[in-house]
Amino acid sequence: MKQEDLFNYLTEENREKERASVGQALRELEEKTASCRRCKLREGCSQVVFGEGDPDALLMLVGEGPGRDEDRLGRPFVGRAGKLLDKILEAAGFQRKEVYIANVVKCRPPQNRNPLPEEINACYSHLQEQIKIIRPKIIVCLGSMSAKTLVDPRAQISKIRGKWVERQGIGIMPTFHPAALLRDPQKKKLVWQDFQQVEREYKRLIT
Ligand code: URA
Repeated sequence: MKQEDLFNYLTEENREKERASVGQALRELEEKTASCRRCKLREGCSQVVFGEGDPDALLMLVGEGPGRDEDRLGRPFVGRAGKLLDKILEAAGFQRKEVYIANVVKCRPPQNRNPLPEEINACYSHLQEQIKIIRPKIIVCLGSMSAKTLVDPRAQISKIRGKWVERQGIGIMPTFHPAALLRDPQKKKLVWQDFQQVEREYKRLIT
C-alpha cells in the first residue's frame, strides 16, 4: 500500500471509530433522558423526544419543545412547523438528515404552552450534553425560548435575530421559530436572510 493510501485508510478508520463512539454516547444520553423525571412535563406527555439527525453534524438546530405531532411520533419538528422547517433547510441547501435537530425541552408542555423556567432548567443539562457530544460548529436557535436558553435570558428574538453570537467556540444564529412564520408570513424574508448567512458560514467551514 502506498504511504498516501495508508494515511487515507487510517484517517478513514479513525473517523469511523469516532462516528461509532459519538453514536454510542448519544444513545446512552438518550436512554438517560428517557427515564428523566426531573420536572413534571414527563407526567403529561406520551414520550421523550430526544432529537434526531447526523451525530457528526456541523449544523444543529434547537427548537423549543415537542408539540402534539412530535409527542405522538417521538421525533422533533414533524408537524406543520416542521414541514416548513424542512422547506427552509432545503432552500438553504441542507438535507434534513445531514443536520441535527433537538429542542430545549424534550417533553411536550401541556396545550403547547411555553416551557416554564424550571422545566428549561431541569432539561438544560441534557441539551448541554447533547451539544457536547455532537460538537456542532453552528447552532441555529429557532425562536425566543431557544435564544434565551442558549444566548441570553434577556434576549428579545426580534432584536437579536440575524446576528452571529459565539458561545463556547460555536457560532450561534438566532432566528424566528417556523411556527411564528406560519402566524406571520412577513417574517419569512428575515428567516431566509438568516439561513443564507448560515449557508455561507457552513460552506466556509467545509471548504
Ligand atoms: N416546535 C418546536 O419548538 N419543536 C418541535 O419539535 C416542534 C415544534
